[in-house]
Amino acid sequence: MRRKIVAGNWKMNLTPSEAKKLIEAFRPQIDSDEVDVVLCVPAIDIVPVVQALEGSTAKIGAENMYYEERGAYTGEISAEMLTDAGVSYVILGHSERRQYFGETDQLVNKKARKAIEAGLTPIICCGETIEQREEGITLRFIQEQIKSAFSQIPSEDAKKCVVAYEPIWAIGTGHVATTKQAQEVCAAIRKNLEELYGAEVSEAIRILYGGSVNVANAAELFEQPDIDGGLVGGASMKPDFTQIVHFH
Ligand code: 13P
Repeated sequence: MRRKIVAGNWKMNLTPSEAKKLIEAFRPQIDSDEVDVVLCVPAIDIVPVVQALEGSTAKIGAENMYYEERGAYTGEISAEMLTDAGVSYVILGHSERRQYFGETDQLVNKKARKAIEAGLTPIICCGETIEQREEGITLRFIQEQIKSAFSQIPSEDAKKCVVAYEPIWAIGTGHVATTKQAQEVCAAIRKNLEELYGAEVSEAIRILYGGSVNVANAAELFEQPDIDGGLVGGASMKPDFTQIVHFH
């Protein structure tokens, strides 16, 4: 039985002092023995959020990292910096990073391998544009993203990864995928993973849905057989998040 994950992605929102305030308000309500709760926050918010969450069951995630260990990479953050600061998850290959910062499948793969080596759990994002969906190439496109992201990652490491299916047309639009659409793609991703690693590994990997998740739609989405929780953007900074965490 896969344990569900409810992860928030704050994106480029909340200053360190705003972050601290929000966590203080959330704090008692985001502890859970049933699901893994993860807050993925801007790099500069990591330290105050880790402090504010001390003693909580909630885990901290980063929104990005670089694959080199150290050196002359001005502005970048290494996997080790993240683990040392108390981070255990990292979002990789979010569509906003692909779209605005030119991240490629190859780069996402390099980052994923480094994250795993450092002991971080990567949340590897994939998802199609509206044009690709209308053209009917969604599943083929996502299969390629998955294949590249997992390149050279051995089974025992693949098992620990998390995949987030986030259709680009559903992100920040209020236009959520139907449960049928989301389940269909998540099932296809699991099939892709089965082709790469076999059934035991693909059954162990957690696949999340992201894109306009809110209090009203979370439970139905997360109860689909191949959806193991969600990656929540906008709603993760509202009191709604505390309800989404306890969706069932
Ligand atoms: P929204 O929940 O705001 O649509 O964002 C989804 C997302 O991109 C999470 O990574």
